[in-house]
Amino acid sequence: MSDSPLILSATDVSVRAPGAGGDTGVVERASFTLRRGEVLGIVGESGSGKSLTALALLGLASANLRVSGQLLFDGEGYDLSSPQSLKPLRGPRIGMIFQDPRLSLNPVRSIGSHFRELRPDARPSAPSLSRDDTIGLLTSVGVPDPAKRLKQYAHELSGGLCQRVMIALALATAPDLLIADEPTTALDTTVQAQILDLIDKLRTKGGMSVILISHDLAVVSELADRVAVMRRGRILETGSTQAIFENARDDYTRRLVSLASSAGVLVEQGR
Ligand SMILES: Nc1ncnc2c1ncn2[C@@H]1O[C@H](COP(=O)(O)OP(=O)(O)O)[C@@H](O)[C@H]1O
Ligand SMILES: [Mg+2]
Repeated sequence: MSDSPLILSATDVSVRAPGAGGDTGVVERASFTLRRGEVLGIVGESGSGKSLTALALLGLASANLRVSGQLLFDGEGYDLSSPQSLKPLRGPRIGMIFQDPRLSLNPVRSIGSHFRELRPDARPSAPSLSRDDTIGLLTSVGVPDPAKRLKQYAHELSGGLCQRVMIALALATAPDLLIADEPTTALDTTVQAQILDLIDKLRTKGGMSVILISHDLAVVSELADRVAVMRRGRILETGSTQAIFENARDDYTRRLVSLASSAGVLVEQGR
């Protein structure tokens, strides 16, 4: 893993929100790297800036926010202050599972039509995803009765089902990088385990890289090779999952570790 090539390097990602007393930094100079096939966990309490860091990488932060920073993705440089320039990365290059499902599913289109417009290999002329592929994918993320779902609309599905459909959509184009923001929070533990397994398979077999965001270090430690800990908009420390568990430098990280350990998580040795 440590010798596979870099797929992503983010430098000085900052997000500022305008307020009555001037701008506030909600993400402050976050920097991190990711290798091909690697899983980077980003953990931290609610409001620490995890989602905005991810949205900034895709040019999807709200228009009221000011984003700056540099992104190097697969050898190409991008300026994060220019959301338009990041658009070509979304979809086949970088798939995103949003924390807020409303950002992914169009309420006036059937579930099936979301999949029909996807082109797995990014060429506009490439064939779209077949119905059988879509049904297979929905089955693999634990959607019961997938053929029926294709004809339904988002409002006809439970929150947990919408989340699974969204995960299938993000994985459908087999992206080089998957950014998964709290991907399993609304799901019961069986489905959660199934989805984490699927993500793990895609990275080991297909070399997909993953940024896995969660407030819960226990969830992240199941998959992540390395972990970045965020608090109040800053990355406090980054280390291998094992180092974070056994040798955290920061008090805040040690508190997250003790919470995760009391939830019964054991880090595999030798990662
Ligand atoms: N559109 C916005 N305008 C102003 N502040 C925002 C906006 N979106 C998020 N924030 C603030 O930025 C901070 C970080 O938010 P977020 O990245 O969603 O945190 P996390 O994902 O770690 O819970 C929070 O304090 C939140 O209130
Ligand atoms: Mg969030």
